Amino acid sequence: MNIAILGFGTIGSGVYEIIEHATTPETKALHVTHILIRKGKPKTLPYMCDDIETILNDPALDVVVETMGGLEPAHTYILQALQAGKHVVTANKVVVAAYVKEFHECASENDVNFYYEASTGGGIPWIQGLEKALRIDQVNRIHGIFNGTSNFILDHMQRYQATFDEVLKEAQHLGYAEADPSADIDGFDICNKLRISASIAYDYHVPDNFPVFGIRTITKEDVQYFKSLGMAVRLIAKTKRQGNTYSCVVEPILFKENQLEANTMDNYNLITLHGDTIGDLKFFGQGAGKLATANAVVQDILDILEGKAHRVLHFQKEMQYDTTLCNRDYI
Ligand code: HSE
Repeated sequence: MNIAILGFGTIGSGVYEIIEHATTPETKALHVTHILIRKGKPKTLPYMCDDIETILNDPALDVVVETMGGLEPAHTYILQALQAGKHVVTANKVVVAAYVKEFHECASENDVNFYYEASTGGGIPWIQGLEKALRIDQVNRIHGIFNGTSNFILDHMQRYQATFDEVLKEAQHLGYAEADPSADIDGFDICNKLRISASIAYDYHVPDNFPVFGIRTITKEDVQYFKSLGMAVRLIAKTKRQGNTYSCVVEPILFKENQLEANTMDNYNLITLHGDTIGDLKFFGQGAGKLATANAVVQDILDILEGKAHRVLHFQKEMQYDTTLCNRDYI
């Protein structure tokens, strides 16, 4: 299976490393044949090019992996790749949250796959787990820690009595934070991941018009005070549906020190869904980081290789937003 990687930053290079250092029969069947880099950047590998047309016009190419991030040109390139009959896998939550409906429609019209496991929950098979739950249950509630950087910051401020800025620098150094870390700190990265999750759960393209609070104003002293009360603060995304109404919110929440959220450390995510027959189901793992996230990308490519179909979504429903639903706490 021939693969083009668009963008060679943290995740793109991680995908390349996993494929180049293949150790299993599955990954040995994958071949990177193109890497799209920005014009003017040095071409350090033989497959590198700066021209999307060369990639899209290659009849031998099977899968386009988009890891450029941001809205444009990612949006255009994904549509062009789908229209050219290529399967697309992306880790880009910004573009998926904004255009998930359009991408699903375009993929279906062109009889190809559009998969985005790595966009939400890093290396955790969260979208796959949610899709499986939906085969039997309605999922009316989801909540969790969806951002590795903010979790790393809050956890390390508490455990090492460090300042916000000190820990943020470390998270950037470890490759967890976005290029502009305000997306992590101010909750917008989580907003995108919650939109993607709720859109799948409700089969409705959830807009971004819900309250989003971040952690920018939380100080070392606040965190130590919470600790003295036997509590830990975590940045949580939650959504709830009741009939045809739903609500979403992103906000810092205090947890008792024996709760799982309070014990979710470093760059880990912990996401909970609730279904009538399955009850509470929790997904835990590295929510950020080069190889963990690249692993989720490669899993999607392998699903395509093995012909494993993901959930078909139509996003045809109409829903109403009800501000009060998430106020009645359920965590
Ligand atoms: N910046 C993101 C995070 C990367 O920290 O969770 C993974 O989406």
